[in-house]
Amino acid sequence: MQCNFKETMDKKTIENQINELRDFLNRCNYDYYVKNSPKISDYEFDIKLKELEKLEKENPEFFDSNSPTQRVGSDENQEFKQVKHKYSMLSLANTYSEGEIRDFDARIRKLLPEGEEFEYACELKFDGTSISLTYENGLLIRALTRGDGQKGDDVTNNVRTIKSVPLKLYGEGFPKEFEIRGEILMPHSSFEKLNQERTEIGEPLLANCRNAAAGALKTQNSAVAAKRGLDCYLYYLLMDNLPTDSHFENMKIARSWGFKVSENTVKAKNIDEIIAFINYWDKERYNLPYDIDGIVIKVDKISLRDTLGYTAKTPRWAIAYKFKAEEAAVKLLSIDYQVGRTGIITPVANLEPAHLGGTIVKRATLHN
Ligand code: IVH
Repeated sequence: MQCNFKETMDKKTIENQINELRDFLNRCNYDYYVKNSPKISDYEFDIKLKELEKLEKENPEFFDSNSPTQRVGSDENQEFKQVKHKYSMLSLANTYSEGEIRDFDARIRKLLPEGEEFEYACELKFDGTSISLTYENGLLIRALTRGDGQKGDDVTNNVRTIKSVPLKLYGEGFPKEFEIRGEILMPHSSFEKLNQERTEIGEPLLANCRNAAAGALKTQNSAVAAKRGLDCYLYYLLMDNLPTDSHFENMKIARSWGFKVSENTVKAKNIDEIIAFINYWDKERYNLPYDIDGIVIKVDKISLRDTLGYTAKTPRWAIAYKFKAEEAAVKLLSIDYQVGRTGIITPVANLEPAHLGGTIVKRATLHN
């Protein structure tokens, strides 16, 4: 009798120890990967992680798929199950000029009652692959790709390995169940490292960060996905009762739950402020550690979304502005003459490799 009592006591102590280590390591990941301000050294982190791994191995009854030890992924091959989206996953209409942004604003004003006041939220348009995350009771339970917009692939195991994706949320304020959508990205540093590795083993180079992110997200082996150095920014909250009637404020609240929400977002009162934001990021994008391909403009007031409505594929309350293709001055190394099937000769320039539009450019045809 006494022995059983002692055993239960010990198990309780071990469980507490495990939970404390998990909370500590989750916080360390958050400081490092979301806040970009690590509080402990990698060495200290590894020691605590090993301690947790050992306790979990000795006490398998406390296994938890959301434990920080699970971020390394598994070597087992996985099949991706198709799962229906609770809310269909829409895309955005694209625009390419100031005039089209003005048309968008005019359309919105026409659809709303006269004198209705509202602002726009302006955000970066992350150039990656979209993801929908579901949380229940503060725990990540599912991650789906867009798929055809109605059904997506369940890539939860791979998403769990992305260190900036919270497995367990902070605070008390989040609802019992909700979805949050965003973009999985491959930062330039991870992309260059990956292509370096591919060069060494004689594999063809990956064309750009977007393709590399999409490929990594769909790798069958989550231990491989874990090594790809992916990141994830969130920009769209979906639930029955949103915390406030402002998208901008809701994203700030989501940030306090532990999500990586970009700080590079503003509220704009009019078109001129939107244009200023576009012009600023058209230049400044080259200083970001990841690719963006434009700006997203959203009506900030949530209650206006229903009034404005949706087309078959896109909301009427938001639009994307796409940057023009990049230009770069590069050094010409040599010229090859390529003979086509029909005997036509095309000169091809060999260039000093340059990052352009998210791609590494090394060769360019000189046909014109
Ligand atoms: S909002 C219903 N915000 O761009 C609207 N999308 O071309 C949902 N994207 O499908 C999307 N950055 O994958 C939104 N700040 C941002 C975004 C963003 C990138 C992607 C997203 C979307 C695609 C549309």
